[in-house]
Amino acid sequence: MNDDSADANLRERIPTAIYSTAKDASAVVAREISDVICSRNAEGNSTVLGLATGSTPTGVYQELARLHKEESLSFAKVRTFNLDEYYGLGPTHPESYAAFMERHLFSKVDIPSDAAVVPDGTVPREEVSAYCESYEKSILEAGGIDIQVLGIGRTGHIGFNEPGSGRDSRTRLVELDALTRADAAQDFLGEENVPPYAITMGVGTILDARKVFLLAWGTPKAAILAKAVEDSISEALPASFLQEHKDANVLVDEAAAAELSRHRHP
Ligand code: GLP
Repeated sequence: MNDDSADANLRERIPTAIYSTAKDASAVVAREISDVICSRNAEGNSTVLGLATGSTPTGVYQELARLHKEESLSFAKVRTFNLDEYYGLGPTHPESYAAFMERHLFSKVDIPSDAAVVPDGTVPREEVSAYCESYEKSILEAGGIDIQVLGIGRTGHIGFNEPGSGRDSRTRLVELDALTRADAAQDFLGEENVPPYAITMGVGTILDARKVFLLAWGTPKAAILAKAVEDSISEALPASFLQEHKDANVLVDEAAAAELSRHRHP
């Protein structure tokens, strides 16, 4: 880790830790999550996690599954709420985020199936807004999110909060940015197959989490990550709202850190 430069601390508006590899950083996040779950379990209390999809958090999920298997980490009292889902996709669609979560985490740990919630992409159009309100209510009734895991899209989105998403936005139906659809094209075997809309938690929903980890790996994320961490807060870059959070933490590998000022102007 290399986060001790005074200059860097001035420019970086979210505490940022740089790791040699994504695997190292993922292990740190998984361990922090595991520590919270263990202490809550010991008190007989539940832990509420906010979870993300995409390639970024898979190492965290792999490590959590390992901790479950090898260190008896129990998810029996854990509740999870996923950030988003493509609108129109149900859990049987292989590219749905519900299927993604099942493959990468839920099927590998002892979380009760009704405790692992992903927004329902199949809600009829006229019921979406009531559904989104009920999603917010379920999070509140669970006690609010203790730890939120986030990746970042190349548009600067968190969840599917594309540029233009406000600080106080809540769970809602959104239209995906062209760059986001292009980035997803490979998964859907062509951009024309990428759903144009999604249901996503809002920026305000995310900022309500008590602790946030924003993860970014690899060169393609370097430029947007540096802007999110160092530029002024703006709706044009929704991830920049994390600068307002009291306990937001950025973890990056060396490649994703390359555009930070401490690297460009050491
Ligand atoms: C999608 C998800 C985001 C995720 C982003 C980055 O757009 N909705 O939550 O952060 O992809 O994906 P990846 O981690 O594959 O780079």
